[in-house]
Amino acid sequence: MEIEIYNSKTDVAAALSKHLESWCRDKGFRTVALSGGSTPRVWFDLLAARYSQSLPWEKLSFYWGDERCVPPQDPESNYGMTRKHLLDHVPVRADHVFRIHGEDAPEAEAIRYSRILEDTLPQKNGLPQLDLVILGMGDDGHTASIFPHEVSLWDSPENCVVATHPETGQKRISLTGGVINNAKQVVFMVTGANKASRLNQIHQQTSGHQNLPASRVAPVSGRLIWMLDEAAAAELP
Ligand code: 6PG
Repeated sequence: MEIEIYNSKTDVAAALSKHLESWCRDKGFRTVALSGGSTPRVWFDLLAARYSQSLPWEKLSFYWGDERCVPPQDPESNYGMTRKHLLDHVPVRADHVFRIHGEDAPEAEAIRYSRILEDTLPQKNGLPQLDLVILGMGDDGHTASIFPHEVSLWDSPENCVVATHPETGQKRISLTGGVINNAKQVVFMVTGANKASRLNQIHQQTSGHQNLPASRVAPVSGRLIWMLDEAAAAELP
């Protein structure tokens, strides 16, 4: 578990952009699963502004670690946010964007997306293998859309499951631990002071951490980087 700490969310975004550039060039990374939320939005804006020429966009394929069960034009849509802040500004091939259909019936979409992963990604350890998975973490310790109140979904044998937001009841589609931990590289982008105590709980493995989905991210490749801003890292030893 590598930890990189930066002054601000923008500096985290700049560092991740440099990582992505070198992983595409040196490791031939092509398939990336993105997360939603406010942290990646800053990164997408930076990629759109400064990396539209320096990444092999036409060779990259994009997936999502999770999606809210809303139509793409809904302000809640992770895909809609990614299109607005990134995909509309870089030359990604339309047939290389594998969005989760948030507008469709959740159970059917979880099955469809599981099959998309099987059909479009190489297999490793009997599971679809992504090159790179970008994750965020909520202040409750959720990641992707696996929340603590239904942490058992992390261990589902399915590639994707239907999850439920604990407060709003909003249905979500989420990748599960098998696929996430099968990626060649996983990056946690975690920023904001509201994450500090949860991060400390996970890193110190203090009581209850094992019920937090974020604490179950442990790629079989061993390649996990926590990219934090100082506010989120404030309580780490
Ligand atoms: C989502 C995200 C979610 C997010 C965390 C952190 O669909 O909401 O995938 O898991 O990563 O909630 O969000 P912030 O980056 O906004 O803190």
